[in-house]
Amino acid sequence: MSDFSDKVVYQVYPKSFQDTNGDGFGDIPGVIERLDYLQDLGVDYLWLTPFFISPQRDNGYDVADYRNIDPKFGTMEDLERLVEQSAKHGIGLMLDMVFNHTSTQHEWFKRALEGEQKYQNYYIFKEGTPDQPPTNWQSKFGGPAWEYVPHLKKWYLRLYDVTQADLNWDNPQVREELKEILRFWKEKGIRAFRFDVINLVSKPEEMIDDCEGDGRRFYTDGPHIHEYLKEMVHDTGIENFVTVGEMSSTTLENCIKYSAPEEKELSMCFNFHHLKVDYKNGDKWALMPTDYKALKALFEKWQMGMQTGGGWNALFWCNHDQPRIVSRMGDEDTYWKESAKMLAGMIHLMRGTPYIYQGEEIGMLNAHYPSIDLYKDVESLNYYQILLKKGKTKQEALEILAARSRDNSRTPMQWDAEQYGGFSEVEPWLAMSAAFRPEITVAQQREDEDSILNFYKQLISVRKTYPVIAKGEISFIETGNNMILAYERKLGEQKIIVFCNLGKEKQEVAISDAWCDFKILLNNYAGREKISGEKSYIMKPYELLVLENEIQE
Ligand code: NOJ
Repeated sequence: MSDFSDKVVYQVYPKSFQDTNGDGFGDIPGVIERLDYLQDLGVDYLWLTPFFISPQRDNGYDVADYRNIDPKFGTMEDLERLVEQSAKHGIGLMLDMVFNHTSTQHEWFKRALEGEQKYQNYYIFKEGTPDQPPTNWQSKFGGPAWEYVPHLKKWYLRLYDVTQADLNWDNPQVREELKEILRFWKEKGIRAFRFDVINLVSKPEEMIDDCEGDGRRFYTDGPHIHEYLKEMVHDTGIENFVTVGEMSSTTLENCIKYSAPEEKELSMCFNFHHLKVDYKNGDKWALMPTDYKALKALFEKWQMGMQTGGGWNALFWCNHDQPRIVSRMGDEDTYWKESAKMLAGMIHLMRGTPYIYQGEEIGMLNAHYPSIDLYKDVESLNYYQILLKKGKTKQEALEILAARSRDNSRTPMQWDAEQYGGFSEVEPWLAMSAAFRPEITVAQQREDEDSILNFYKQLISVRKTYPVIAKGEISFIETGNNMILAYERKLGEQKIIVFCNLGKEKQEVAISDAWCDFKILLNNYAGREKISGEKSYIMKPYELLVLENEIQE
């Protein structure tokens, strides 16, 4: 496998990135227009969320044709231009392959509905009567995971929306079809892929009711998953590409296997455990303050575990499914800038590959929509109804969406202080964040040396100049304080020490004699250069302090 440890990936949600044709909907030419910006930021890869033909019921994660571009995003020529232009900017493209399911508008599913056995075998159909779904499994978007087709007298499995039918990976023809899609994009010059919920594709042979949960324990990291991944990677010759798997409710043991180079499966994994530390009893729709002790423990478990097992983490806080991290674990007002920088530094300096989600680099905040009418996300709209049915008031349900909705991260990119943030000249498909203000724009932060944007640039650039960040070992420093996360990175003689104050209160930390000569490499508060001779240090709210021993290779 090639070495990608000093690379940084930037995630573009094209629909909300840059509109160039005045329809309020971002497009591929818009990504091309912003390549100079991305090159200046210093990122190596662009992960583009799906832009294939799709009814857009789940914003492109419901693919109806994997080989063509949805006209809303542009044309194949636009995409070819993007491949060429991004290469000229030193940036590779990472395409998003949604292989767990297709849209019910896909040709295969349509033919299955027309009664063609071949295509029914592409999906997971079970005979039955309308009153009795094959199992009691629940969809991840709420409600039952099965849908009945009266004229076939069969149910089909859909772990997500009713329009997203799960594919049957146990059928070798399906696996061949998917490989052909990868070969197609490889031919177009694509050298990196993200695989959507890839650890859910291997379903158990026998499907039974789940008396403990929603069914996920039967199909998560399923029986043939490692075998199927190895086959797909080998047969398409993508072993040396940068590949990342989105792993839903996974385990450390499996992620080591997915990403250890000798297994020849994927380059790295996203896991979501650290983003569930504010879910009450594991329920995304039940609010709870962040459990910092659990957060620290999870980072330690995954960082140390992946290192010991030889796996590789994708490091991230934000994506198109997660609320904005500054709204979630930082401070939107007084310490907006400090908390954004601390949160960034905390993950960028760990062992793994950092991902930046569009707008994160300028500290964008949640949507703060005052009304349900502004939400567009299918999951949010489903859960709003479910919450009302469970007895929540409209106000309470709105508060939950305000904290948890996926639309929080999908609001248009804030390029400048114009009405629609420079994203579009016309009203965007999804309303701007109500927290949109001139400081939270690229235009303003470009001019400010101390901005969040410039801090992200610095984080990317130190990764390239300090091999210890890309390749060093990690170990955690016991602080005895739930609000202070601290770790050391080490490569030969080179060392860096990272301290993060996770909260608003000041915290005291002990300074080891061993660090007395260390210099400050990064700090989100100005002023100091050294901490010479001190036994302890008072960390300011959301302070990030990074020390280095000044030995560079
Ligand atoms: C994960 C994607 O990130 C999310 O946006 C999508 O809804 C589901 N997978 C289903 O494809």
